[in-house]
Amino acid sequence: MSGQATPGTVTVTMDGTNKSTKLQLIDGTIGPQVADIRKLYSDLGIFTYDPGYGGTAACDSKITYIDGDEGILLHRGYPIEQLATQSSFLEVAYLMLNGELPNAAQKADFDAGVMRHTMVHEQMRSFFQGFRRDAHPMAVMCGVVGAMSAFYHDSLDINNPEHRRISAFRLIAKVPTIAAMAYKYSVGQPFVYPRNDLGYAENFLYMMNAVPAEPYHVNPILARAMDRILILHADHEQNASTSTVRLAGSTGANPFACIAAGIASLWGPAHGGANEAVLKMLAEIGSVENVKHFLDQVKDKNSHSRLMGFGHRVYKNFDPRAKIMQQTCHEVLGELGIKNEPLLDLAVELERIALSDDYFIARKLYPNVDFYSGIILKAMGIPTSMFTVLFAVARTVGWVSQWMEMIEDPSQRIGRPRQVYTGSPQRDFVPASQRG
Ligand code: SDX
Repeated sequence: MSGQATPGTVTVTMDGTNKSTKLQLIDGTIGPQVADIRKLYSDLGIFTYDPGYGGTAACDSKITYIDGDEGILLHRGYPIEQLATQSSFLEVAYLMLNGELPNAAQKADFDAGVMRHTMVHEQMRSFFQGFRRDAHPMAVMCGVVGAMSAFYHDSLDINNPEHRRISAFRLIAKVPTIAAMAYKYSVGQPFVYPRNDLGYAENFLYMMNAVPAEPYHVNPILARAMDRILILHADHEQNASTSTVRLAGSTGANPFACIAAGIASLWGPAHGGANEAVLKMLAEIGSVENVKHFLDQVKDKNSHSRLMGFGHRVYKNFDPRAKIMQQTCHEVLGELGIKNEPLLDLAVELERIALSDDYFIARKLYPNVDFYSGIILKAMGIPTSMFTVLFAVARTVGWVSQWMEMIEDPSQRIGRPRQVYTGSPQRDFVPASQRG
């Protein structure tokens, strides 16, 4: 078997033995081939070792493609630059869920379907009373989104396509309402009911900012910027939180519990929590004069400081979303008449200095989606504690789409990684009286 060159395979031979196996190479539409290692253990008695899954494909997917070296991001084949400037968030949601852009009738029907599911069960309001007012809104999101499975018993059969469709609508439609409720609860203001006559992003800003005491009209500039920000955060291949959703879903857990798991995973500062961390970092740096000292700290491994909003497991070039986010930042600040935003000036100078510094160049560290998003959100009046919540609102579309794809994949099995065991070999129990 070994020795003969067989195109489309890779031969693994254990040196010093006559054990060898041929692994099939699987071609994607674009991107690197993958070696199918499923028979490696049965043939050679070995596992692969890949902490953090940096070189491991956990599934095949048709939703998003990233080329980290070229800085390319496609959703169902459409470049993010075109979707961000020519599409809408709900149209991108339709695209991710269905694989094609909708025609006018399909779009109208989908938008109406989402916007007519934006209210939450009235009893869910009481969940919020259990949280301290100063609870982080992501803690509230984890709890209340997970609790949705306590209310929607009629759509929990994951093997029923209609249940999956209804759950998808409910999650995409209700997560913004829950997010806005988490914010209102944190500031002691009454919850604002959603409005079906508003657009998706407009309705979210309305629920965040309106008060019963007077009429509130959402600034169309902010609504348009918010819609674009949601598009930029909608999906991103098999990132940590999406992988969490897929792993939870692989056990047959209901979609609300899976999305709650994704929210918990996104919260980490190495992932979706980075946008909030960037603002805190910029505040700590304070001024351009301190940039060099800060970057010296980052380069000192003992300081454990990181340049938040920089670096990415996949992008070893500019994150295309960061470029669009920076452009949007300038547009929004200009349209809002904000002439000088010190945070933006500091961020631009920090990026300029970092990109010319050998430490960052050698490690291919570039701005990622989180580097500029916080600056826009702050300019739009979104509180820092809500930045990651916003990321979760947008990423719910990607999580739901990836969850649906996994459930419908005939080859999907319960996720169960293996390990290399480095603990103690077997030994006998020693009674307490005989221990040293
Ligand atoms: C998101 O996966 C996704 O797609 C995520 C995301 C999505 O849309 O879902 O894109 C969203 O999470 C973006 C990333 C947001 N996080 C941050 O901005 C936090 C700061 N970034 C880092 O923590 C880090 O870059 C990660 C977590 C993003 C990537 O971690 P890796 O892959 O483990 O980093 P690496 O192996 O590429 O690092 C290589 C070197 C290391 O130094 P050496 O050991 O080689 O000397 O670069 C260093 C790292 O220490 N490094 C950094 C750094 N990021 C990596 N040094 C300083 N500052 C940083 N930000």
